Amino acid sequence: MREINRLGLIGTGVIGAGWAARALHAGVDVIAADLNPKMQDWLNDAIDNAAPSLNALTADIDMPQRGMLRFTTDFNEVALTADFIQESVPETLEIKRSVFATLAEHAPADVIIASSTSGFMPSEMQHGMNHPERFIVGHPFNPVYLCPLVEIVGGNETDDSYKQVARGFYESIGMHALMVRREVPGHISDRLQEAMWREILHALNDDIATTGELDEAIVYGPGLRWAIMGMNQIYMIAGGEGGARHFIEQFGPALEWPWSHLKAPPLSEDIVARFADGTEAQAGGRSIRELERIRDECMVAIQRVLRKHDMASGATLNQFEKHLRHRAEKSG
Ligand SMILES: NC(=O)c1ccc[n+]([C@@H]2O[C@H](COP(=O)([O-])OP(=O)(O)OC[C@H]3O[C@@H](n4cnc5c(N)ncnc54)[C@H](O)[C@@H]3O)[C@@H](O)[C@H]2O)c1
Repeated sequence: MREINRLGLIGTGVIGAGWAARALHAGVDVIAADLNPKMQDWLNDAIDNAAPSLNALTADIDMPQRGMLRFTTDFNEVALTADFIQESVPETLEIKRSVFATLAEHAPADVIIASSTSGFMPSEMQHGMNHPERFIVGHPFNPVYLCPLVEIVGGNETDDSYKQVARGFYESIGMHALMVRREVPGHISDRLQEAMWREILHALNDDIATTGELDEAIVYGPGLRWAIMGMNQIYMIAGGEGGARHFIEQFGPALEWPWSHLKAPPLSEDIVARFADGTEAQAGGRSIRELERIRDECMVAIQRVLRKHDMASGATLNQFEKHLRHRAEKSG
């Protein structure tokens, strides 16, 4: 398998730019393409915006020399020169399929083509492309430069060895690769997030709470725990000495009532307005950029604390440091 020295990015919106910032910081060269030439300025801006957080995150890690960035509107240039291609174009199956057909026609057969798709299954996207065995989903989280999670999913035609190569590459740029056992729409994490969001929309629709109150219910309570341990481990602890079994005895019966809904409410104008106006009021006049900065500074601080305990995203940061040290020793 080829060494991955140059990452090709297709689509340089929120997610593509996040991939670029992460890879460049980890010392990987990037060739990034977007149909819209105006995205070049936007991309440079987004990378600059991410730099202080990335520098703070890795302040005590000996980082390699920064990668080099090239921007183009020519997708074929990416196909012909990248060692690994990560697609982040809009979430429309037809657009994605046509982009993959072009890329797969021109990219050498051992170049992995990965999609950032939030919900499509790899089998839906790889069928009919040239060398479908090198196609995977590599689903990241926003902001890609600070969230280490990437869900790796293979389709019917994917060769497992490519999933392992993708894992190695993502880990080498400081990510935590979650190998998803079976493809399902929405992979794993977005299904969990959607379940919660559905309840939020119901609560807005039924006039139970505002967006601000719903967010209070998350950030002062369960949300504070989730960066450290997931819901399952947290519930085990909540069962006291009786652990998970005691927890189920106590709260299992509520699943029969049930407290929550299964289907989302229809997205009426009223719900959309409650969601949009509510979050606008919560922002309190702060711009998206300001909110991003606060979010990023706190995400950095949390990960640096978790690093001391070698827990969750902090453990990923420790692994990243080990990987970089190993790479530096090998090359010099
Ligand atoms: N935004 C998120 O939170 C998030 C998180 C994880 C994954 N994703 C996934 O990442 C992908 C990109 O999402 P995003 O939020 O960065 O979108 P975005 O709209 O911010 O960016 C998409 C970019 O793709 C470009 N593009 C390239 N080729 C195109 C084509 N053929 N037709 C139209 N546009 C083209 C657009 O110009 C635009 O710059 C989607 O599949 C999405 O589901 C998004």
